[in-house]
Order: sequence, then C-alpha cells, then structure tokens
Amino acid sequence: MPALKLSIAILFILLMPLKTEGRNAEAIWDSRCEDCHGNNTKFARKYLWNIGGELQAQHHVDNLSLFMRQHYIPNHEIETIREMLLEKANSSLQFKDECGVCHGGITEFVKKSIWVRGNEVTGRESGKDVRKFLLGHQKLQPKDVSFFLRLFARVAGKPFDDEEEPLLQAITR
Ligand code: HEC
Ligand code: HEC
Repeated sequence: MPALKLSIAILFILLMPLKTEGRNAEAIWDSRCEDCHGNNTKFARKYLWNIGGELQAQHHVDNLSLFMRQHYIPNHEIETIREMLLEKANSSLQFKDECGVCHGGITEFVKKSIWVRGNEVTGRESGKDVRKFLLGHQKLQPKDVSFFLRLFARVAGKPFDDEEEPLLQAITR
C-alpha cells in the first residue's frame, strides 16, 4: 500500500527534528529539576553566575559540568539546560552597565581596588568597609549591595557566603 508507506515516511520526517533537537530547556527543567529547585529564574539569580560566558554555581564553582553529569540529567540534555541557565544567571555585565563608566572593567577594578577575606570586603587602598560604603553609593539598595559583594568575591576567586538562605531552603522552597 504505497499511500500508507508514504504517510509513514512523512510521519518520520515530521518526527525527526523533534528527536535530534531534543526537548526545550523549560520542559526539561519542569520535568526534572523543578520539584527540588522551584522556579528556574529564581534559582539562577540566587545560585548561578555567568562569568565570561562560563556557567558557575554558588557552591560548585569549578566542577559544575561534572556535577551536572551526575545530577538528574542525561548527557544529551546538559547543553540545553546549561545554555538556559547561563542566560538567566547573574552576570558581571551588570557591573559594566551600572559602574563601568567610572570604574572600567570588573576584573581590573577588583584586582586594583578590592580585597576579599572571609565575608569581609574591603577597599584595597582606602581600607573602607565596602559593604557599608556601597549602601547609598550610586543609590544602591541592600539587595544590590549583596549582589556586588558576591560578584566581587566571585571575580576575586574567593569563597564568600552572603546568602541568608541556604541552598537546601531553595530546594524545599
Ligand atoms: C531530588 C532533588 C533534586 C533534583 C531533582 C535536582 N536537584 Fe539540583 N541539587 C539538589 C541538591 C540537594 C543540591 C545541593 C547538593 C550539592 O551541592 O551537592 C543541588 C545542587 C544543584 C546545583 C548546584 C548549585 C550550587 O550552588 O552549587 C545545580 C546547578 C543544580 N542542582 C542543577 C539542577 C538541575 C539542572 C536539575 C534538573 C536536571 C536538578 N538540579 C535536579 C537536588 C536536586
Ligand atoms: C559616576 C561615577 C561612579 C559610578 C557610576 C560608580 N562609582 Fe563607585 N566610586 C566612584 C568614585 C569617585 C569613588 C571613590 C570616591 C569615594 O570614595 O566616594 C568610588 C568608589 C567605589 C568603591 C570603593 C573603592 C575603594 O577603593 O574603597 C566601590 C566598591 C565602588 N565605587 C563600587 C561601585 C559600584 C558597584 C558601582 C555600580 C553600581 C559604582 N561604584 C558606580 C564613582 C562611581
């Protein structure tokens, strides 16, 4: 029955792209990650960083790819999820946009002016407590201050845990 064969062939062609492209990232997240981590935008803002196009997590900094491979997600879907999370992650571009006119690039700025030790962030030469200084500098609000302190520490490559809410709380929402 050629007509049937033809329609089967057409059906295959229609289905093929679906198979090769895989599911979209939102669908993967909703079925595999949402139960534990909740909303992906909130999760990304809280725990993930886009540092020069690299996805880094708050706790898993260097070995995130390896961690993800062992973490509820099949290999062929990792890249899709990674791209989505990268797009939603905290980005150092915020410094470029809001502070760059006066302070230049983030990497240089941090190297030259910022000293991170434990949860203390200090002006390298000024000796200022940056947490106190930033509140009100350029009309920054407490949540912006927290963001920039975390960003400086991240760029300096120093551990820093300024999150009031530990990871497990986000997991149970
Ligand atoms: C059964 C619950 C559960 C599911 C499902 C789950 N996770 Fe997790 N996830 C956790 C726990 C618990 C941690 C923290 C444990 C750790 O750090 O080793 C974590 C940590 C993470 C981290 C690191 C966060 C950080 O700050 O370092 C990322 C990224 C992550 N998960 C992504 C995902 C993605 C993407 C999915 C879906 C494919 C997913 N998780 C599914 C429980 C889950
Ligand atoms: C209009 C210019 C301008 C902009 C925009 C600006 N700053 Fe500043 N910033 C300054 C000046 C000038 C100083 C030093 C003088 C002072 O102490 O007030 C300074 C000092 C600082 C210091 C202290 C450095 C030290 O050595 O103690 C930090 C940290 C800082 N700025 C962060 C930021 C962040 C984060 C942003 C973006 C949200 C930002 N600044 C935007 C002009 C600016």
